[in-house]
Amino acid sequence: MKVIKMKHVYVLAMVVVLVGTTVAADSATNTCSHTCGGQEIPYPFGIDDNNTSSECFLGRRLIPLTCNESKIYAGDMEVLNIDIFNAQIEASFYVSKYCGVHNYNKPRLNSGSYIISSKENKFITVGINSFGYFNSYRGGENKYSTGCLTRSFGLPRLIDNETCSGIGCCQVDIPPKMWNISIEAYNFNQNSSLYCSYAFVVKNGSYTFSTNHLSPKGFRYEELPVVLDWTIGEENCSTASSKKNGVNYGCKNNSHCDDKDTYFGYRCHCNQGFEGNPYHPNGCTDINECEKDLLHDCKTKAYCNNTDGKYNCFCPKGYSGNGTKEVGCQLDDENANSIVLLIVLGVGITFILLFLGTFSYLMYHKRKFIKMKEKFFEQNGGLILKQKLSTREDSSSQTRQDSSTQSAKIFTQDQLNKATKNFDENLIIGKGGFGTVFKGLLDDKRIVAIKKSKIIDRSQIDQFINEVVVLSQINHRNVVKLLGCCLETEVPLLVYEFVTNGTLSGFIHTQSNKVNNETWKTRLKIAAEVAEALSYLHSYASIPIIHRDVKSDNILLDRTNTAKVSDFGASRLVPLDQTEIATMVQGTIGYLDPEYMQTSQLTEKSDVYSFGVVLVELLTGEKPFCFVIQDGLWNEENKQEIKEVAVLAAKCLRLRGEERPSMKEVAMELEGMRLMNKHSWINDDSNVEESRFLLHESSSSFYEPGDSITHGDIGYDSLKDHVLIALDDGR
Ligand SMILES: *[C@@H]1O[C@H](CO)[C@@H](O)[C@H](O)[C@H]1NC(C)=O
Ligand SMILES: *[C@@H]1O[C@H](CO)[C@@H](O)[C@H](O)[C@H]1NC(C)=O
Ligand SMILES: *[C@@H]1O[C@H](CO)[C@@H](O)[C@H](O)[C@H]1NC(C)=O
Ligand SMILES: *[C@@H]1O[C@H](CO)[C@@H](O)[C@H](O)[C@H]1NC(C)=O
Ligand SMILES: *[C@@H]1O[C@H](CO)[C@@H](O)[C@H](O)[C@H]1NC(C)=O
Ligand SMILES: *[C@@H]1O[C@H](CO)[C@@H](O)[C@H](O)[C@H]1NC(C)=O
Ligand SMILES: *[C@@H]1O[C@H](CO)[C@@H](O)[C@H](O)[C@H]1NC(C)=O
Ligand SMILES: *[C@@H]1O[C@H](CO)[C@@H](O)[C@H](O)[C@H]1NC(C)=O
Ligand SMILES: *[C@@H]1O[C@H](CO)[C@@H](O)[C@H](O)[C@H]1NC(C)=O
Ligand SMILES: *[C@@H]1O[C@H](CO)[C@@H](O)[C@H](O)[C@H]1NC(C)=O
Ligand SMILES: *[C@@H]1O[C@H](CO)[C@@H](O)[C@H](O)[C@H]1NC(C)=O
Repeated sequence: MKVIKMKHVYVLAMVVVLVGTTVAADSATNTCSHTCGGQEIPYPFGIDDNNTSSECFLGRRLIPLTCNESKIYAGDMEVLNIDIFNAQIEASFYVSKYCGVHNYNKPRLNSGSYIISSKENKFITVGINSFGYFNSYRGGENKYSTGCLTRSFGLPRLIDNETCSGIGCCQVDIPPKMWNISIEAYNFNQNSSLYCSYAFVVKNGSYTFSTNHLSPKGFRYEELPVVLDWTIGEENCSTASSKKNGVNYGCKNNSHCDDKDTYFGYRCHCNQGFEGNPYHPNGCTDINECEKDLLHDCKTKAYCNNTDGKYNCFCPKGYSGNGTKEVGCQLDDENANSIVLLIVLGVGITFILLFLGTFSYLMYHKRKFIKMKEKFFEQNGGLILKQKLSTREDSSSQTRQDSSTQSAKIFTQDQLNKATKNFDENLIIGKGGFGTVFKGLLDDKRIVAIKKSKIIDRSQIDQFINEVVVLSQINHRNVVKLLGCCLETEVPLLVYEFVTNGTLSGFIHTQSNKVNNETWKTRLKIAAEVAEALSYLHSYASIPIIHRDVKSDNILLDRTNTAKVSDFGASRLVPLDQTEIATMVQGTIGYLDPEYMQTSQLTEKSDVYSFGVVLVELLTGEKPFCFVIQDGLWNEENKQEIKEVAVLAAKCLRLRGEERPSMKEVAMELEGMRLMNKHSWINDDSNVEESRFLLHESSSSFYEPGDSITHGDIGYDSLKDHVLIALDDGR
């Protein structure tokens, strides 16, 4: 076919300006910038900001790049991508359009070192009755042409949509060596201005044909992306690299030159084992193959040694093999043994450390526990007690060689926990204002009563210590024996001998129904024993002891109904040179000496008074109020004894302490009665008169204030008065 002569060149594409053949390399690097609006412009490309007319890049035949409004341009083609590795650049290039003889264009590219990539692009013509040329010039003349035509004389629906099948759209491959190109689109109907023809080079896959493109104004592209291959320089590799100064040689450190398939110039590639930009002045950098599993064939990263451009697989000392995936590393036999030994040692040491840790942890807690126990011991007066016990032991061993005196023992918490099964509630044998009493079994099979005080006032520690000290001194068959105490607990614990039959109070008041002479004999015995015990306390050799809280509740009975005086918490030691001491009034209402109550002067006679009340209880079987001789107790055989005891009780209950008999006299009297059925000093009328109240109906008179404080010295009335006081005080 004939090429129609064009009247106008509508668009002239860019022209590569060639400058002098010698270019100063230093000026090139100095004047180039490598960014454009945030995009990187990699070597060998660069932008000559000052347009110093020197090339800003290595290959002199490369089109100079410019930066306008954050876009990179090569001539007037917008650069879309620069690919250093494949030595390609992607840029927008014009579409050739023919819409009649007055409306067409013929874009041309004097491409310098750029070649239209034959692999990446297609030449396409779109139209109903169209053909297109793709020309390459050599020395200004069109030397080579290719292209395609498409005509359709039938219905447009025969045209395949979305594929460039040849009808409506034809495409051909790009031949190699196409540079200095032009593109021309034509229509077989030259005068047609309605249906246009289009021809263009485009990156394979970047254009999709549509039948819409065949309609008037259906095709809207003015530019489409084209892939260009580029090279640098004009010489082949051997010439370029062997140039004497070599300054313009484009392939930098750790890279090599490649002129295969190039028509002029060369490309650079990083050497194997290196990466980066071979045109960059610093050259390529080493790849650390060991960091990327795909790049090395060592068994593990640990067996990989990276070197410049390479890597080695190796085995650590003591292993054999070359560390590769197929061979790996094997432990040498000798070393295997020592490793096993090391592991065993390691495990052993860990175990020992673990053990020590646990042990010291336990020790720490134990120590803390012991500390706590020590604290309580101290709080509970343990030190004072120890001191008192030891001094007492000293003095007693000096003054009395009596071996019956034996100190209280200090028990440990563990011992008592064990004895009471950790204070099992089933072992509680008594409860009261003072605290709780547990029955316990010591290791040596002794049954004991363990008194656990309520949380006691720390200021009353002295009183507690007192009981311990007092009781530990006494060894009398009618005084309950204190075996020891434990001070390691928050509240101190007292350990007594276990007295089986309960309190005298319980004894009297449970047998209220059937009493007889036998009962009386027992009661007389008990009275005598209690009197004996109190007498003993009052005449206690070193320091007399006043019990201060004598009452039937504090008298215990053992299996043979032997009385044991207990509860010495309020007891006082009275120094020998003092017959009376001032104290805070303390005791149990009903048993409390009225004289003591008024004067606060404590003497042994206070105990005598309280004992008198106990005697009355024994006679009457009543709690300390409303006393009448108990029915059944009184008979012909014992009426004399009962009378005498009643008289004795009355004497004990005299208002003035000094008129009361001493405990010793009382004890002797009772013991005498028991043994010989005799009476002694009390058998006179006034004394009988004194006891009349007990022997007859209870008085109906009421207590009047002042009566008990009469100074009339008449002892008879005092008992009555006292009884009424007791009644009034609401026991
Ligand atoms: C452009 O030229 C000016 C003055 O000649 C110079 O200061 C500046 O550094 C140059 N810019 C570049 C990118 O070379
Ligand atoms: C750069 O200099 C060349 C001549 O050396 C000139 O043709 C061109 O217009 C200049 N470009 C700019 C942007 O100044
Ligand atoms: C930059 O681009 C704008 C429009 O995109 C154009 O008007 C202007 O001439 C361009 N400047 C240069 C130096 O190419
Ligand atoms: C390409 O065209 C330019 C300008 O027309 C010319 O100088 C150059 O020699 C041509 N290249 C080749 C290989 O013909
Ligand atoms: C061809 O495809 C385009 C969209 O891909 C659609 O708009 C058009 O209608 C299709 N043409 C025909 C004839 O189906
Ligand atoms: C095209 O139009 C011109 C006049 O404008 C006419 O001379 C010529 O014959 C026409 N060509 C064809 C192929 O119709
Ligand atoms: C490029 O064109 C060929 C046919 O010449 C085709 O097989 C290939 O899939 C195309 N590649 C892309 C990326 O479209
Ligand atoms: C490289 O080019 C020089 C001269 O341009 C030529 O003599 C030499 O044979 C070329 N080398 C190769 C390998 O093509
Ligand atoms: C080239 O790279 C190697 C390591 O990759 C380095 O030892 C050498 O110093 C580099 N040479 C130059 C000129 O930068
Ligand atoms: C790694 O290789 C270098 C060079 O070959 C060598 O000097 C070095 O000792 C090697 N390191 C190891 C752990 O093998
Ligand atoms: C490692 O050893 C195996 C077997 O001896 C051999 O085939 C392989 O080439 C060796 N690899 C290296 C990197 O030495």
